[in-house]
Amino acid sequence: MTIALTGFMGCGKSSVAACLAQRLGCFFFDLDDTIRMGEELSVPEIFSQRGEKAFRKLEFEYLERILSDYEEFPVDMVLALGGGTVTTPECANLLKDRACTVYLRAGLETLVSNLEIAGIQERPLLCGTKDLRTDVGSLLGKRSPIYEKTADVIIDTDGLSDESIADRIISSVGAQPRKEELLH
Ligand code: S3P
Repeated sequence: MTIALTGFMGCGKSSVAACLAQRLGCFFFDLDDTIRMGEELSVPEIFSQRGEKAFRKLEFEYLERILSDYEEFPVDMVLALGGGTVTTPECANLLKDRACTVYLRAGLETLVSNLEIAGIQERPLLCGTKDLRTDVGSLLGKRSPIYEKTADVIIDTDGLSDESIADRIISSVGAQPRKEELLH
């Protein structure tokens, strides 16, 4: 099974994906990292040199490649998407057919606080902001229905550790943790 994590910037997709992959003993990919390595450019560089539309096209191409490469393998794989990946209908369609998509649904306060801690320099859609809470709130309002529509499973994450989120995902999707993980 391919488990794809979606949700707004700062909801913890990458750290939860790492934790989930460790619990399942499987591979873990981060779509942004894969694009960054493949293109030899950072996400802000891709946005500034080629524009957002080109970045969305790359997201689709790399997503398709990762999903196709893993289709043949009878093993689990965890994929952290970018916060905007599912807003491209072609990406949402790919995920519908080939992955179990989990929306990590965090509230505005959690997102703002996580983004304040993590920083927004690597996030071109937010890095020019004068009022982070207002801009996150407005983009979240637009995107929430899309995350909810694309998701096979929704996990409300406010106040939960990465480990408990990973556990909730495992029981919701019926994945099989590694034996050693069951002993903990
Ligand atoms: C984006 C989210 C980012 C990255 C890019 C665009 C978005 O990923 O893909 O900056 O549109 O929400 P994270 O959600 O990992 O920050």
